[in-house]
Amino acid sequence: MIIEPRTRGFICLTAHPIGCEQNVQNQIDYIKSKGAINGPKKVLVIGASTGFGLASRITAAFGSDAATIGVFLEKPPKPNRPASPGWYNSAAFENQAHQAGLYAKSINGDAFSKEIKQQTIDLIKKDLGQVDLVIYSLASPVRVHPETGVKHKSVLKPIGDPYTNKTVDFHTGDISQVSIDPATEEDIENTITVMGGEDWKFWMDALQKEDLLAPEAKTIAYSYIGPKLTEPVYRKGTIGRAKDHLEATAFDITKSLKDIDGKAYVSVNKALVTQASSAIPVIPLYISLLYKVMKENNVHEGCIEQMQRLFADRLYNNSEIETDDEGRIRVDDWEMREDIQAKIKELWDNATTETLVSIGDLEGYSNDFFNLFGFKVAGVDYNQDVNEVVEIPGLQ
Ligand code: NAI
Ligand code: NA
Repeated sequence: MIIEPRTRGFICLTAHPIGCEQNVQNQIDYIKSKGAINGPKKVLVIGASTGFGLASRITAAFGSDAATIGVFLEKPPKPNRPASPGWYNSAAFENQAHQAGLYAKSINGDAFSKEIKQQTIDLIKKDLGQVDLVIYSLASPVRVHPETGVKHKSVLKPIGDPYTNKTVDFHTGDISQVSIDPATEEDIENTITVMGGEDWKFWMDALQKEDLLAPEAKTIAYSYIGPKLTEPVYRKGTIGRAKDHLEATAFDITKSLKDIDGKAYVSVNKALVTQASSAIPVIPLYISLLYKVMKENNVHEGCIEQMQRLFADRLYNNSEIETDDEGRIRVDDWEMREDIQAKIKELWDNATTETLVSIGDLEGYSNDFFNLFGFKVAGVDYNQDVNEVVEIPGLQ
């Protein structure tokens, strides 16, 4: 079929297999171009099919020849109905990994469930014995709690007061004011339940109980801080509370991994266009200004550049792992540079529908958004008939 983007707000209902394949290829090429990393050997990636999780998997496999097991929740294709992008990404990744002689298998299902944890445990036991790195990179709007069966929904709301600021519709470039009512206590609790650290701890406990963690195994999850500008809706909002919880959980996990001398880390990453971040009000306008300023200063990065730097310069640099005074690894250092943030602040105050075209990088935002789904990828012929039914060779 000929596959075209079909967008509804901040989601795209279709995905292009060849475009996704090209995206994965570009990421693999980037990692290879940066040279070998003395990194992990057997890696479990939870949330492995898109964004930071996919980039982590590619970095481990093609930077360190690691065997990888990926867990994700993606929609398989049907005739005349394309799969979700993470499906095509995973198919492309596995094909490339297998060609390179690397072990790569995948599990598609709800990572929050006991069943998927058990399936993953069985696979590690059968094929890898133990893992030395666990990446936890889930981004989900909902979580069915494995003990209670209750379905919790996360929300993106401020806490305390209503929040009003500018936001952009990145399809049209229209800037408008958005007002978001504050979260209820229940909203806060639910968001922590979905995006906090409880499930990360459940995973690590389950793996440890079955003796599947190698001596000195590491685990890492991803967080975000960002500037004052976005604080009400991000770091001091409901999602920020969940991130506080996630960050605190790293210390709990490290404590429980004492016997094997294991360590849990949180890496604070840069703001990027992903399916998750497009859904947060105000953030797309911030990102379009951020992209403009970071590109002008030659410090712009995508997921793969961030993960390459995380692995090579932070996690596996053959010396002590550098953290901030709250124990977090920071690869948002360039985003948070004083000069970069001062410039964004200035642009923010001047941003209108009329000025954004020249002062922001809306085109970069929009392009990255379509790229997530395999569209507008350089070198891909979108007029060609493609087979939408693609298999993931190592899918369990
Ligand atoms: P993403 O939406 O690209 O990736 C989410 C992954 O989780 C996908 O592989 C998806 O299949 C998987 N997933 C979702 N629900 C699942 C479920 N129930 N069971 C199994 N797999 C499931 O998200 P992104 O942006 O890569 O986010 C990953 C982490 O990075 C999140 O913790 C996010 O908060 C964090 N982060 C994101 C930033 C951004 O700007 N996008 C910045 C800094 C941190
Ligand atoms: Na991810």
